Amino acid sequence: QTYKEKYRPQFHFSPQEKWMNDPNGMVFFNDEYHLFYQYHPFSTTWGPMHWGHAVSKDMIHWEQLPIALYPDEHGAVFSGSAVVDWKNTTGFFEENQPGLVAIYTSAGTYPDSDRTCQRQSLAYSKDSGRTWVKYEGNPVLSDIAITDFRDPKVFWHEETRKWVMVLATGQTITIYTSSNLKEWEFASEFGHKSGSHDGVWECPDLFKLPVDGEQGNEKWVMIVSIGDNGETKEGSRTQYFIGEFDGITFVNDNDEATTLWLDYGRDNYAGVSWSDIQDGRRIYIGWMSNWRYANQVPTKEWRSAMTLPRELTLATIRDGIRVIQKPVKEVNSIKLENFVLQEMTIESGKALSFPVNKQLIEINIELEKESSNQFGLVIRHSETENTKVSIDVLNDLLLVDRTQSGEYNFSSSFPSVQEAPIVLKNNRVKLQLFMDTSSIEVFANDGEIAVTSLIFPSELSKELVLFSNDGITNVVDLKITELDTIWK
Ligand code: FRU
Repeated sequence: QTYKEKYRPQFHFSPQEKWMNDPNGMVFFNDEYHLFYQYHPFSTTWGPMHWGHAVSKDMIHWEQLPIALYPDEHGAVFSGSAVVDWKNTTGFFEENQPGLVAIYTSAGTYPDSDRTCQRQSLAYSKDSGRTWVKYEGNPVLSDIAITDFRDPKVFWHEETRKWVMVLATGQTITIYTSSNLKEWEFASEFGHKSGSHDGVWECPDLFKLPVDGEQGNEKWVMIVSIGDNGETKEGSRTQYFIGEFDGITFVNDNDEATTLWLDYGRDNYAGVSWSDIQDGRRIYIGWMSNWRYANQVPTKEWRSAMTLPRELTLATIRDGIRVIQKPVKEVNSIKLENFVLQEMTIESGKALSFPVNKQLIEINIELEKESSNQFGLVIRHSETENTKVSIDVLNDLLLVDRTQSGEYNFSSSFPSVQEAPIVLKNNRVKLQLFMDTSSIEVFANDGEIAVTSLIFPSELSKELVLFSNDGITNVVDLKITELDTIWK
C-alpha cells in the first residue's frame, strides 16, 4: 500500500486496507508499543471482528503486522485489553519469561436462537504478540442474563494484589476481580444513574493519576464510551468519571447529574489507555470516527484511523478536577520547519490570510480579545470550502464548524458545528491544532478541552485565515509547524 490515497491520514495510524474500529489490547512490552484493533479483513464496512495488530517504538511511527486474533467457535473477537503477566499468575508462561495475555469479548449467538451471546475469553503470546494461543478454558466469564456484556479492560491492582476487570454491562460498568485471569469474581457495579445514558455503555477503562502532579494525592478516572442511540445529534461519544477505587468499588466524586466529556468533537470513540508503560505516563488513543456515519465516510481502500496518542493527566481547574490531554511528546519527531509570526492585530472585516501550501501542519496560536466577541481561524480554506475554529466569547464556547469543510453528503449527521465550553483567561485563549489530510484535533488552553473532528476537504483547500468579527482581536503568538508523514 502506498498510503498516498485520497484522504489517507499521514501521521495517524490507519490500516493498510479494509475496516477498522476500536483500539484494543494496547500494551507496552519489550520496548514496543502494541496497538491491536477491531478489524474486518474482507470489507471496508463492519463485519466479523478480528484483532488487527501494529507495533511502534514511539506510538507515532507504526508497522502493521499480521492479524493477531481470528474468530473461532466462541464467536467474533470484540474489544478488549492486554496485560503483561509479570508474575505468571496464569501459568501460561515459563518462570522469568513473562508474556502477554489478551482478555477480549467472544461475540457469538446462542445455538437455538439468534440472540447474541457475549462472553470473555483469553489468548496468550510468548513471542511479543507475534503469535497467539487461545486458552482452552474459554470463555472465562459469562452471564446469560446480560445481553451487552463486553469490552473487558484489565489491570493489576497492587494494593489488593488482584487483577481487576471493568466490563461494559448495558447501562453500567461491572467490576470483577481475579488472582489468575481465569477465574473471576463479581466485585461491584457502577453507574445506574451517573453521567450520560444516551446510549449503551461500552469500552470502559479505570486508572489512577496524581492530581496536579502531586504524588500521594491521587484520583481514579473511569472512562466510559456511550454508543449511538440514533437520537442525539452527537452520535457516539466518550464520558469520564473522577473518584475513588479501593479494589472493589468505584465511588464517583461528582454528583450523579454531572457528565464530563473527554472530547467535544464527534470523532473520538472507544478509546482506552496503554497497559504496562513503565515511565509513569497514562497514554490514551481513540478511534477517530463515529458510529453515526463510520461505515459511510468517503475513503475507498480503508476505513478509519486512530487519534493521536495523548498523555492524560489530572488538574484542578475552575470547576474541579478534570482530565487534561496532550499529544504525546514523541509527536515532536515529525515536526519539520516552523514559521513564527510576529504579533498582529486582526480588524473586523479585514481577515488575514496565509497561503499555507502544506496539508500536514500544527498551529499554535494565542488570541486575545480586544473588542471582538467572535474570532478565530479558518483552516483548509478555498473559495468553496472552509473549516472554522472560533471563539464565541458571549456564550463561552469554542466552535468547530465543519458544515462547509469539504465532502459531507455521505451522512446528514456529518455537517455540524461542534461546541465545547471555554472561558477566556485574561481575555486570552490558546489553541493547538493538528491538521492531517482528513482530520483536525484541537486542544484548547493547554489540553483542558479537546475537539477531534474528521473533515474531507479537497487537497487544494489549504489557505489559513484569521478573522475577527465586529471588533479587534490580537494575535499574541502564532507558530505554524510543518509535519512529516509517518509512512515512508
Ligand atoms: C465499540 C464496540 C464495542 C464492541 C466493538 C465491536 O465501538 O461496539 O462495544 O466490542 O465495538 O466491534
